[in-house]
Amino acid sequence: MPFTDVVIIGSGIAALSAAKQLCKHKNVMIITKSRLEDSNSMLAQGGVAAVIDQHDDWQDHYHDTIVAGCFHNKDSAVKQLVKDGTIRIQNLIEEGMIFDQKEDGTIDLGKEGAHNRNRILHAGGDATGKLLVEFMLHQLKEKVTFVEQEMAIDLILENGQCSGITTIDLHGIVKNYIARHVILATGGCGGLYEVTSNAEGMTGDGLSIAFRAGAELSDLEFIQFHPTLLYTANGNKGLISEAVRGEGATLINDQGYRFMEGVHQQFELAPRDVVARAIQYERSQGRNVYLDISMIPHFDKRFPTITSICEEAGIDLSKGLIPVAPGAHFMMGGIKTNTKGETSIPGLYAVGEVACTGVHGANRLASNSLLEGIVFGHNLAQVILEQHNQTISSHLNTVRDIKPFKADLPEKNEIQKMMTTYVGIERDLNGLTFVKNWVEQYLSPHWLKGPLIKGTKEEVAVINMLTTSWLIITSAIVRTESRGGHFRSDYPMSLDKWQNNEIIRHNNQVMFTVDQSLVRSEINESNQINSNAATVFY
Ligand code: SIN
Repeated sequence: MPFTDVVIIGSGIAALSAAKQLCKHKNVMIITKSRLEDSNSMLAQGGVAAVIDQHDDWQDHYHDTIVAGCFHNKDSAVKQLVKDGTIRIQNLIEEGMIFDQKEDGTIDLGKEGAHNRNRILHAGGDATGKLLVEFMLHQLKEKVTFVEQEMAIDLILENGQCSGITTIDLHGIVKNYIARHVILATGGCGGLYEVTSNAEGMTGDGLSIAFRAGAELSDLEFIQFHPTLLYTANGNKGLISEAVRGEGATLINDQGYRFMEGVHQQFELAPRDVVARAIQYERSQGRNVYLDISMIPHFDKRFPTITSICEEAGIDLSKGLIPVAPGAHFMMGGIKTNTKGETSIPGLYAVGEVACTGVHGANRLASNSLLEGIVFGHNLAQVILEQHNQTISSHLNTVRDIKPFKADLPEKNEIQKMMTTYVGIERDLNGLTFVKNWVEQYLSPHWLKGPLIKGTKEEVAVINMLTTSWLIITSAIVRTESRGGHFRSDYPMSLDKWQNNEIIRHNNQVMFTVDQSLVRSEINESNQINSNAATVFY
């Protein structure tokens, strides 16, 4: 049975940032369910937000982050992000990472929504994530063991401690990996929706795995919809970065009207939830929406990735119009961690989009996600390196207690359709209740309670989709207000009592009955779901 010091599930920027530090002193294995390059980080176009300009300061970046986050952010996490962010980016530059520069050799900082100044470093125009990931993968070459095309199914727990991970490969072979430390860096869950900017297969596996093991989760109702995905008659064709609006592009409908004028004083650079809702409204009235890019000189040079995405989709950019629609982009909630990446289960860590440090509040600020991965990945590695090695058993049963399941599972696209219709940019109690009942007809209580599952990779993926959907829906029902990435049309206002997240988290535990017969979960007003408290009735 393979044994390693640290096993990391996922291959995005947070995973690589942690691995980069850890591999100096530990054996590190990175396991990913598809190929190394299939991550959301690879697709990140806009860039990395960081305080680099001498006229900028961390307080300003902090301010923009918490305003975008609708004051739901965890203060200590935001301070760590913006202060450490500068150091980490400077380190990367010293190591040889090249960000785009102006003619005078200074870094060419771009602007994106809800930033009060130009603060976004980019590389290769709009290929920032790709170039950063390639840079880090190069640094890790021959220092880390990479395992591709193996999907994590469940954590191995021993006396309440996480001591490894069970995976399934393309041929259905189930394997156990024993490790002193397990890091979940599995990314987000945009693939639960019909239209998404996320990489193929980002359907919230990490959340389901952690939930089945009894880890606490937090703030799952907050899903960010990116306002501008390229949308043609053939569907969603990829992201059109907010940096395009940062360079001056406007949003118009097919009558040529710049509708953001009447919506927000920051127009197209208003917070993403505001812009996404305005576009959704236009589309619901039967009007198509376009990004007018005609004022951006040398568009193809500044945005080579977007230019080729558009060309592949048959868009004639000389007309200066790109058809767009919103799509699921980022999950603000996740596996609850402290700023060290520690979860409620000893030996289990989470980092990047799958984690919820509280740094993003209810709505992530543009270009803070690559920064999150870089900063919190590095800091988590330091925490592990400072620990004494604890003893773990390597005498675990090789044959795990895998319970077979018998169920008719829905198709992935049925789940995506239901999530888009009822748990999308706008939600209400009727829709949420309807979709919860729909999910529960398929969702076996076994899968919420925690036993391992036997099935093909595809079946496990669908069960994870159902589980994660159920968790998001349940959280969205509990939050009877609107804030950031959670808009309840039946409760359109934000409530003051939810503004101080810290106090509520500690003092206002409520028992929440999800359903008379299925599960009783303990959820507090921050929507932390403690699955240890879940009682399953048969
Ligand atoms: C974008 O380029 O618009 C996306 C970047 C981000 O989500 O921060």
